[in-house]
Amino acid sequence: MPPTRQEGSGSDGENERRLAERTKVMETKISEIAEGIYRLSTYVPDIAPPAGFTFNQFLVLGDEPLMFHTGLRKMFPLNRDALNRIIEADRLRWIAFGHFEADECGAMNEWLALAPQATPAHGQTGCMVSLSDFADRAPRVMKDNEVIDLGGKRIRFIDTPHTPHGWDAGVLYEETTRTLLCGDLFTQLGNERAMTDGDVVGPAIAAEDMFKYSSLNPGMGSTIRSLSKLAPRTLALMHGPAFVGDGAAALEALADDYDRRLSDLARVVGRI
Ligand SMILES: [Fe+2]
Ligand SMILES: [Fe+2]
Repeated sequence: MPPTRQEGSGSDGENERRLAERTKVMETKISEIAEGIYRLSTYVPDIAPPAGFTFNQFLVLGDEPLMFHTGLRKMFPLNRDALNRIIEADRLRWIAFGHFEADECGAMNEWLALAPQATPAHGQTGCMVSLSDFADRAPRVMKDNEVIDLGGKRIRFIDTPHTPHGWDAGVLYEETTRTLLCGDLFTQLGNERAMTDGDVVGPAIAAEDMFKYSSLNPGMGSTIRSLSKLAPRTLALMHGPAFVGDGAAALEALADDYDRRLSDLARVVGRI
């Protein structure tokens, strides 16, 4: 999560008060972005103003419903109330996320307390490094490309280490709807709409230029390019609208941009 412009300049108490004030006026909107997949979106106007910034969670329905991203711990009441408008929260069976970071998994233990049958699921690195200690319930350790059959939906876990950031990073692919739950990939500012068939690569490049949130690494382009082989029909962005269209082309263009960043960096390093 990028820092707000104001936070960091005040005392802890002052920052707490600001967040409490902000949470009071925020709302979480629900949209169905693919059959049986719901986007729970909270817009925070004072992150990167004037455009603002969204935080999205995704509920995948099935016999065993799964939520991708827990949301920030301090946004838990908003997300819980939104989820309860779709299903009773204690029906959740799986809680997954892209990498260990507050907006991805900060509210995990709140969800585990609310949904007694839910199990956290994450990759081998993340379980070993973080969840074995952090999670109040033992996680299911997912191998690269392992599938959870939700009953009506099939969720594939794909390792993407350090892409866009985090040693433990991964994405989920829902096979029946061809939806890539792509986490922080394609992060963009603003809150124009829940879904788009327009350009998601240009806004992602602009956000990368601004936040510099990715852990640039030599494998990044090829990691993103390998996801294009899935030919996803929908890209479910954690920070931005859901994109419906040629997901492979968008992923290849994003991979090209990261290759460009890496070769620019290599040129600079070569001059030193
Ligand atoms: Fe992140
Ligand atoms: Fe995120």
